[in-house]
Amino acid sequence: MPSRRRWKITSTMNNLKNDTLIRSLLRQPTPYTPVWLMRQAGRYLPEYNRTRKEAGSFLALAKSPALATEVTLQPLARFKLDAAILFSDILTVPDAMGLGLYFVEGEGPRFERPLRDAAAVARIAPPDPSGVLRYVTDAVSEIRRALAGSVPLIGFAGSPYTLACYMVEGGASADFRIIKSMLYSEPALLHRILDLNARSVTQYLNAQIEAGAQAVMIFDTWGGSLSHAAYAEFSLAYIHRIISELRREYDGARIPSIVFTKGCGTWIEAIARTGCDAVGLDWTIDMGEARKQIGDRVALQGNLDPAVLHSSPNVIRAQVANVLNSYGAGSGHVFNLGHGIVPTTRPESVQVLVDAVHELSAAPHL
Ligand code: CP3
Repeated sequence: MPSRRRWKITSTMNNLKNDTLIRSLLRQPTPYTPVWLMRQAGRYLPEYNRTRKEAGSFLALAKSPALATEVTLQPLARFKLDAAILFSDILTVPDAMGLGLYFVEGEGPRFERPLRDAAAVARIAPPDPSGVLRYVTDAVSEIRRALAGSVPLIGFAGSPYTLACYMVEGGASADFRIIKSMLYSEPALLHRILDLNARSVTQYLNAQIEAGAQAVMIFDTWGGSLSHAAYAEFSLAYIHRIISELRREYDGARIPSIVFTKGCGTWIEAIARTGCDAVGLDWTIDMGEARKQIGDRVALQGNLDPAVLHSSPNVIRAQVANVLNSYGAGSGHVFNLGHGIVPTTRPESVQVLVDAVHELSAAPHL
């Protein structure tokens, strides 16, 4: 058994009561595998639905630092999660560029003024994080105060390509017909949008770090819809640029970065080479296989199929064990789902998952 002193020697200088997430992201020793869940605050929680109803809409909720703080903390009050994630959305950035974000019930996000031509692109500029996006950094500061050092706060942003999908399509898309036409027929125009997005996201994430985010994550939800060659050129290249321009340290603490591309199976080596500290995996890739490929360079986050949460407690425990065993012994694993929790999930199932991760992984991870 390692002595407590051993944990202290490799201290990340962050003064957290529970710093297992930061340690795992930096592949340092932990007493168990930390766990948090994408979309841990959201519609599967009745208390979230109540607060959202009071706020009037999702956007009103996200734009109020006090209410964003309240819903960020809701899952932590129920479950022994090892991290909080800022309650916000990736689409705050294009909204701040003036594209007019709104939500249609049951259909997801839409933009009033999608980017379809050079004239529209010429009109947009990176938003000032201390101006129109001030509500986000205010929420980060308020959440940090409320957490009082209990667990770390993760900040986040969308990848330039994933943001561009919504900005060009004007909303969710099944086939990405409009953005892919632009990609193949007017690649220079799409590159201009991606360059703007990369600059915006870099400033935005650095502002979150300066406001108190203790780790940051880039969500590349739609990178996996691209061809092999297009992924490198239109998604990964811009993620790489952001990672190289992020603050790696703030206030004496290392700020780890996580890159999550859904459907990234064949790309994990290249993602690890961006300089990120951790790679987020969806459930289509074997955790142990991924560790063999890149586990000596980065931490791994994931990757339980969110659909498992619709099963019985015994099945959930067995599936949690499979992911933990697949990673194997040692540090560098952050347990998560392979994508966000779906709204039909029962909160009791999340309880089973979180407790199972802690119980089944309780051993020094060196
Ligand atoms: O993880 C968390 O708890 C933090 C909050 C968070 C939200 N969105 C809140 C949200 C995070 C990290 C996001 C990221 C996000 N937003 C992504 C990337 C991650 C992913 O899931 O792939 C994407 C693609 C978006 C864009 C977006 N925002 C969509 C497609 C939708 C509708 C989705 C749906 O489930 O209806 C949103 C709205 C949204 N963002 C909700 C939440 C809790 C639901 C809003 C509601 O209350 O109606």
